[in-house]
Amino acid sequence: MFRQLRSVTTTTFARGLATSAAKEPRLKKFEIYRWNPDTPETAPKMQTYDVDLNECGPMVLDALLKIKNEQDATLTFRRSCREGICGSCAMNIGGTNTLACLCKIDQNESKDLKVYPLPHMYVVRDLVPDLTHFYKQYKSIQPYLQTKEKPADGREHLQSIEDRAKLDGLYECILCACCSTSCPSYWWNQQEYLGPAVLMQAYRWLIDSRDQATAARKAMLQNSMSLYRCHTIMNCTRTCPKGLNPGKAIAEIKKILAFD
Ligand code: SF4
Ligand code: SF4
Ligand code: FES
Repeated sequence: MFRQLRSVTTTTFARGLATSAAKEPRLKKFEIYRWNPDTPETAPKMQTYDVDLNECGPMVLDALLKIKNEQDATLTFRRSCREGICGSCAMNIGGTNTLACLCKIDQNESKDLKVYPLPHMYVVRDLVPDLTHFYKQYKSIQPYLQTKEKPADGREHLQSIEDRAKLDGLYECILCACCSTSCPSYWWNQQEYLGPAVLMQAYRWLIDSRDQATAARKAMLQNSMSLYRCHTIMNCTRTCPKGLNPGKAIAEIKKILAFD
């Protein structure tokens, strides 16, 4: 029994070797933005790495991990879940802000792929943007349930199925910042303009039937910069890797404030 199993395994292994030996490498060039804060006098540069697509998983994150593991351990980027849930691998790939773990590698080896950090953000290192201000803005909209009255049953604030459904398409945001960093208004005014990701969450709490801080939430947005820098260019909605529509959420806030 043991001998038979071993012979099958050996044959399979030998066949595997023959197949990979027969495969020509399919080398694709990845041009990646590099900047090291330890040598700030050295300007950022693009560094090129060849990756054999026959030996690489299908996503851009697979290629980045392969480069880091096999060619250059100093290449720095964020990632965690590798399935579009944590939002940490957001970067600019081939000219579009997206998640590296959800972005398929174009299998045409003759086309080089350029990878940059999210645009118009300070860079911590290589592909890692500084999101400190983005998170501060998120905190500023008080993204949590606020109530004055105790729940009717003394235990939890209930919501009808219809009211809960209004939050669909909003709560799924993973705060990757792809939308905000694709927005020209955010590029030029990000100290004061909240940007699409944060505004969509402001809307999510404005329309939550259980929340009782609606007046204060509206007042926070009634100024010329926080909301009204949005000019409905819609880059945000076009780029969202989760298929959400922050541009529409912003338009809905404007309607709420207009009829207030
Ligand atoms: S719709 Fe508004 S938030 Fe979205 S990209 Fe355009 S200006 Fe920016
Ligand atoms: S709306 Fe989309 S692009 Fe914007 S932060 Fe949320 S998941 Fe990312
Ligand atoms: S690694 Fe989590 S979203 Fe890409």
